[in-house]
Amino acid sequence: MKTLSRIAVATTLLGTSLFANPDTMQQETYDSIVKTGNDVTTTLIQTLGKNLKQHLKSDGPLGAAKFCSTQAFPLTDTVSAQYGKAIHVKRISLKERNPANAAEGSEKTVLEALQTLQNNGVVLPKYLVARVDANTAKYYKPLRINKKVCLKCHGAVSKNAKLATFIKSRYPNDKAIGYTMGDLRGAIVVTIKQ
Ligand code: HEC
Repeated sequence: MKTLSRIAVATTLLGTSLFANPDTMQQETYDSIVKTGNDVTTTLIQTLGKNLKQHLKSDGPLGAAKFCSTQAFPLTDTVSAQYGKAIHVKRISLKERNPANAAEGSEKTVLEALQTLQNNGVVLPKYLVARVDANTAKYYKPLRINKKVCLKCHGAVSKNAKLATFIKSRYPNDKAIGYTMGDLRGAIVVTIKQ
């Protein structure tokens, strides 16, 4: 009986400390990272989405792809700048179009893990938080092909010869085609310094 209650106490303590300290992180720190990550990713998705929609409407997929090829980066950097020096946001993928968006190091490990989960029927979490060092954390938002419009430029692109030619010439090593609805496309990563 005594042993059992000791185990119970130990389990409770462990449970409490895990809750207060997710992956050796204070709950307040974790909550603040999640809040910042949610804000920054929402702003980025809205900014890129709004521009993509406008250009698809006025210039069609080819014009919109040209727009993305020159403006997706500057727009992403503008969102970063808006949140100050302690925040940096970018997009990553395991099957990247722009080589500058290739997942590297621990980011690659996180995306591979998400891909494995998705392959096994796991509904992916809305976000993940990773500790990088004592003062730095990364917030990941998994990005799926969640709208049919994504397939215009990331699906069976060869259906649109002009678009396919543009993409091939601008991105000779493009890996971001052949996706279908629901596929994991990559993630938005927000690096946060405390
Ligand atoms: C009009 C064509 C077009 C459409 C539609 C489109 N994309 Fe892209 N996408 C691009 C181009 C071009 C790039 C490379 C330029 C860049 O963003 O750096 C890109 C890059 C990306 C990247 C960055 C990783 C990489 O491969 O370089 C992600 C993530 C992405 N797209 C997701 C999406 C999602 C999700 C949708 C649907 C909501 C979508 N795209 C719709 C053209 C498009």
